[in-house]
Amino acid sequence: MTIAFLNGDYLPLEEARISPMDRGFLFGDGIYEVIPSYGGRLVGFAPHIERMHDGMNAIEILSPHSNQQWREICETLAQRNGAGNLGIYLQVSRGADTKRHHAYPTGITPTVFGFTFDIPAEPTADRSSAKTLKVASGEDKRWQRCNIKSVALLGNVMHFQQGAADGKDEILLYNKAHNVTEGAACNVFIVKDGTVITPPLDHQILPGITRHIALDILHKYSDIPVEERSVSMEEARHADEIWFSSSTKELIAVVELDGSPVGDGRPGPVWEQAQTLFTEHKYDY
Ligand code: PDD
Repeated sequence: MTIAFLNGDYLPLEEARISPMDRGFLFGDGIYEVIPSYGGRLVGFAPHIERMHDGMNAIEILSPHSNQQWREICETLAQRNGAGNLGIYLQVSRGADTKRHHAYPTGITPTVFGFTFDIPAEPTADRSSAKTLKVASGEDKRWQRCNIKSVALLGNVMHFQQGAADGKDEILLYNKAHNVTEGAACNVFIVKDGTVITPPLDHQILPGITRHIALDILHKYSDIPVEERSVSMEEARHADEIWFSSSTKELIAVVELDGSPVGDGRPGPVWEQAQTLFTEHKYDY
């Protein structure tokens, strides 16, 4: 039985109820986070909460909790749900109104919801046994504010489904200029001639926490050259390695793009180095 957090209370997930007038439900008017926790140890709590604050600021919701309270909620959810391999989901919506009106209403209380779900065990940086992804590609048709971690994920859901309908695990999205943006639920890295390259942060992609931690770790603990710059689909198709990154997957090698092998069709040596360092240092964040 999953224990959820709803507006100050911990309760079984099946008993959690919100109003159908909640603006998160009616408009997708809210933001969310997914924070990984292994054996009760959180990865990247501080940057995750900072991003949640950025999202709340962007849509003018006052944070209903202090950082210390957010930490307590996360730790309590992890403990109450068995402290295994968990994604801790937090969501803040603008709250329930009495009428449906687009403008932000004043005087309503944000709805705060949290629960946990199982995620895969911490990946081991082993090229022969690591999980991998096969991905499709498609033009990114989402909105111009993908830097906000909005609960309004229909664009992402439709893109993910586009990949799934094609029998793939994810989808690599590109913009009108045929530059890579991100996956439906992941950031993207490519490796070419030993250099790690990832699209820069802007309105087209989510500022992923795994991306942030991986870049910081590579800068601090390796000599691997790293570039944050536009990546064309042409470059992606000729990359030696492609990785996707997310809180529930860490760094995961893409071994097939649109039916063609990426590199030699197996996780590459730079992925192995990067995931090894990620495993070593991720709890510092
Ligand atoms: N997805 N880009 C998108 C569109 C995402 O939804 C995610 C995360 C990422 C990676 O961000 P991070 O490293 O902070 O997890 C990039 C989460 C896990 C989800 O929606 O389940």
